[in-house]
Amino acid sequence: MRQRSPSVRLGARHSRAVGRSAPTGILVRMHRPITPDALRLTVLDESGVLEACRQTYRFWHQGRAEEPYVQRVLSAVERMGSEMRYMGLVSEDGALAASARALDGGIECNGVRIRSMGIAAVYVRDDLRGRGIGAALIERLLADARARGYQSAFLFSDIAPAYYARHGFREYPALDWSAPVGSLPASPGLAIRRARPSDRERLRDWHRAAALVQPMGVTRTPVWWDFFRWWRGAPDDYILCDGSREVGYVNVGMDQTCLRVHEWAAPGVEPSRIWATIRARAADLRADRVGGWLRPDRRTGFMNVEARSGAIPMAVSLQPDIALPEPSEAFFDELDHF
Ligand SMILES: CC(C)(COP(=O)(O)OP(=O)(O)OC[C@H]1O[C@@H](n2cnc3c(N)ncnc32)[C@H](O)[C@@H]1OP(=O)(O)O)[C@@H](O)C(=O)NCCC(=O)NCCS
Repeated sequence: MRQRSPSVRLGARHSRAVGRSAPTGILVRMHRPITPDALRLTVLDESGVLEACRQTYRFWHQGRAEEPYVQRVLSAVERMGSEMRYMGLVSEDGALAASARALDGGIECNGVRIRSMGIAAVYVRDDLRGRGIGAALIERLLADARARGYQSAFLFSDIAPAYYARHGFREYPALDWSAPVGSLPASPGLAIRRARPSDRERLRDWHRAAALVQPMGVTRTPVWWDFFRWWRGAPDDYILCDGSREVGYVNVGMDQTCLRVHEWAAPGVEPSRIWATIRARAADLRADRVGGWLRPDRRTGFMNVEARSGAIPMAVSLQPDIALPEPSEAFFDELDHF
C-alpha cells in the first residue's frame, strides 16, 4: 500500500472564485490533515500488512533485520488463520494511518468461557500521533468486536495503563519474580523427559486443570497453544515424571544467565517438588538465577517480587451482563502474551 497525499484538480469555477487566471486542470497538492473522522476501520490485505510492518519495524524489530521481521509477522498471520485479523485505519485515498492485530480468543472465567478479542500491536503512524487516531482505533476495534459478538476484549499494555483505562480496560496483576538458583528447594525433585508433539492434548489438559484454580485466565485453543509457543520462542516442554507416573509438564528456557520459568502445570503435586525439579534443571544449564511471571497463588518465600513495567494484562467487558472478576483474582500466563 503506497502512501499518497490527498490531491484535487482545480476546476475553472474554483479558479474564478480565487480571482486568478490559472489554467484549468493543474494538479495542486492539498495537505489536508488526516483526522480520525476521515479514517475507516478495515481488515488489511497482504499489501496492507506489509505497509503496517514497514511502519512498525523501527519500533518492534527487537534486533531483527527488516526482512525477518516482516516474514515473522506474515508467518504469524498465516499460522493464526481465521483466529487473527490485521486491522487498519485507512484514509479515503488508501493511506494507512494506524494498525493493530485482533485475535479471536477467549477468557476463562470461573470455568465459563467468555468470547474475547485480543488486541495487539496498536500503532499510529509516527507523523500522525497526538490527534486522537489511537483513541479512534481502540474505540472502533471495540465497536467491531461488539458487532462480531465478542463479550470482552483484552490486551497486554507496554505503555501507561491509563491510556487504555480511558476506554474501560482494567489492569490485572503484572508481577515478576526472581531468585538465586540456590534458594529454591533442593529436593525431592521429579524426573523429566522431553515432550513429544503427540503429548500436546495431555499438556493442555494439565494446563486447563491448573488454570481452573484461578478465577480468570486465557482460553488456549490448539491454535493458540502452538502459536504462542512459537511466537514467544518458548523452548521445548518437559513432562514431569513421578516414578512411572507422568504428572504434569514444565516449560523453561535460558534468558542470558537466568532460567525463565514460562509455565508449569502439575495438578495435585506439591509445588516444592516442581521448584526442586526446576532448580536441578537450572544447575544443569549453569543458570545463576531463576525467574518469570508471578502467578499470585504460587508466591513463596524464596521469590523476590517486583512490578513489571511492560506486558501489563488489561481487559474490558463489552456486554452489560458480563462482569469480569476483580483484577486481584486473575492471572495471565507468559505464554499467553501476544
Ligand atoms: C500509543 C499510541 C498508539 C498513541 O496514539 P496517538 O494517536 O498518539 O494517541 P491519541 O492521540 O489517541 O491520544 C493522545 C493521548 O495519549 C497519550 N499518550 C500518547 N502516547 C502515550 C504513551 N506511550 N503512553 C501513555 N500515554 C500516551 C498522550 O499523552 C495524550 O494524552 P492527552 O489526551 O491527555 O493529551 C502511539 O503513540 C503509538 O503508536 N506509539 C508507538 C507504539 C506503542 O507504544 N503502542 C502501544 C503498545 S501497548
